[in-house]
Amino acid sequence: MPLTGRWTLTRYLIEERRRYPQASGELNALILDISLACKAIARIVATGALGDAVAGLEVRAGDTNVQGEVQKPLDVMSNEIFIRMNEWNGHLAGMASEEMDEPKQIPQNYQRGKYLLVFDPLDGSSNIDVNVSVGSIFSILRAPADVVASGRDVTEADFLQPGATQVAAGYAIYGPVTMIVLSVGNGVAGFTLNPNLGEFVLTHENIRVPRETHEFAINTSNSRFWEPPVKRYVDECLAGKAGPRGKDFNMRWIASMVAEAHRILMRGGVFMYPRDTKDPAKPGRLRLLYETNPIGFIVEQAGGRCSTGRQPMLGVKPSSLHQRIGVVFGSAAEVERIERYHHEPIEELDEAPLFAPRSLFRD
Ligand code: AHG
Ligand code: MN
Ligand code: MN
Repeated sequence: MPLTGRWTLTRYLIEERRRYPQASGELNALILDISLACKAIARIVATGALGDAVAGLEVRAGDTNVQGEVQKPLDVMSNEIFIRMNEWNGHLAGMASEEMDEPKQIPQNYQRGKYLLVFDPLDGSSNIDVNVSVGSIFSILRAPADVVASGRDVTEADFLQPGATQVAAGYAIYGPVTMIVLSVGNGVAGFTLNPNLGEFVLTHENIRVPRETHEFAINTSNSRFWEPPVKRYVDECLAGKAGPRGKDFNMRWIASMVAEAHRILMRGGVFMYPRDTKDPAKPGRLRLLYETNPIGFIVEQAGGRCSTGRQPMLGVKPSSLHQRIGVVFGSAAEVERIERYHHEPIEELDEAPLFAPRSLFRD
């Protein structure tokens, strides 16, 4: 029976929960509160320059802590919305986000729960001023047993869990339509916000990333800082039909990872923000806990692959809350190829014909 267009996000989550008779429904309730935060952010994003005053009022309403404060940038507002929609519900032991240096504690006047929520409240925020799609990314982890048992404050160490342990992950994309794409560990589903109902409705069942692609995404202005395996891969794509790949490639760069991930989930492709030599203090641009892990979880649940180039992303043991990391994700055949290039000895690469003078990215 085709479900498309008929199930709400709530129904989808309830049907998923039936597979676990012992489940309490807390995860579902948490995801619905997150989806409410995404609806609120979508509203603010959609009003653009018209919405400053209204957005300010919306954020201040009901939140005495920020009353009277001057207008805040949109990513700080989105962060506050995520906190406000989730701190009260009793499902969380703590939160962490791109916008907060330290983990956020659940206030003492609220119950504490068994999950940790990690999020990038507004991804691609440099695209806000130019009216290009942005999004929110979230990752749900289990809180360590002693945190749940004692109800103690959370620490950074509690969040440093490999991506494979995620219970659920998702993103909202604020584009021509607002969507939530998520996985609770049983494939990936996409929901489109029906603005008349104010409900996310299942529109994309069982999303799969095609194994093969001829589309790649990378910020080529960084090419002089790339490592040889990445240079080799991009060179081969650019060489097209006449090159070793024997086919022409297309390229995209939106500069909102959420939007790139969404395109790849819809039609395949490969996205790279690899480790490079631009700034030795930053081994990659994107952040492990609230960008590459949740996107990696979704992409892998959809049959794609996500890697650092050297190892599977979801196997990385995080070392800090805001750790940056190189990332390659998308169509499995391309990600596997890029991983293979990383594992081949550098000497061989230096002698490869693509690093001969005709190479487009030769320094
Ligand atoms: P954020 O807005 O959360 O800081 O993330 C922006 C990220 C990501 O979405 C995007 O892929 C990348 O930054 C763009 O980087 P460049 O500006 O280097 O292209
Ligand atoms: Mn981001
Ligand atoms: Mn952000």
